[in-house]
Amino acid sequence: MNATLYIVGVGPGDPELITRKAFRILENCPVIATPKGSRNGNSTALSIVEQAMDLGDREIAHLYFPMKKIHKKTGPTKDVQEAWNQAAEQILAFLEQGKDVVFPTLGDPAIYSTGYYLYETILARQPNIKVEFVPGIAAMSSCSATTGVPICLGDDRLAVIPATFAMGDIRETLQQFDSIVLMKVHRVLDQLVALLDELNLLDKAVLVERAGMKDEYIHKDLAGMTEQVHYFSTLIVRK
Ligand SMILES: C[S@@+](CC[C@H](N)C(=O)[O-])C[C@H]1O[C@@H](n2cnc3c(N)ncnc32)[C@H](O)[C@@H]1O
Repeated sequence: MNATLYIVGVGPGDPELITRKAFRILENCPVIATPKGSRNGNSTALSIVEQAMDLGDREIAHLYFPMKKIHKKTGPTKDVQEAWNQAAEQILAFLEQGKDVVFPTLGDPAIYSTGYYLYETILARQPNIKVEFVPGIAAMSSCSATTGVPICLGDDRLAVIPATFAMGDIRETLQQFDSIVLMKVHRVLDQLVALLDELNLLDKAVLVERAGMKDEYIHKDLAGMTEQVHYFSTLIVRK
């Protein structure tokens, strides 16, 4: 098989944060296979790309990835695995026709992205496939830039964690590290705010909603915050 699958980070939202390499690949691939979290929803990754270039008559394959927690020990649930299998089959069909495929993913593919799950699923079916990863600007980098809060300096120890798992683990991480980036905070923000308050860390925390997108919002005063925030929200705690 001569065609290549490119798994490309397109940054956190601002189309100007798409790298030149990602841009070139997105412009040249005949097929864009784009992820979305609900069957009828839109793909955020694709909407970032559309703001940067005219997609013309490019073939777009919409791939559905259910937004569910994936535990390292137990692996994906059956429906999630089935969705990955289906996505892999869709992509392989294009590659078998000799068409290069680009899979744009939010931020960087190395950070909590479906890109690697897709990669492993495809490789399990067709080990000789050519795959190239292209790094993108991670959401946390954009959140740091927009707030002027560095992520880590000097001998700071950094932890990056999804906030959707056990609160006990988050407490321990907040106590042990100097800089903590909490992602996927939207459903547990009230619990996180209470925990930060208890640990006297509220004044060390900043929350960025939709960094680099048109409704970007920086929350500096988190005390007593109960309002709903968008899924695209990241909390940086820097002691
Ligand atoms: C599935 S992860 C994707 C992370 C992405 N691969 C990266 O490199 O940043 C989704 C989480 O990334 C964070 N995120 C993504 N885009 C964001 C943005 N524009 N502003 C703030 N946080 C964002 C949020 O914490 C969100 O819940």
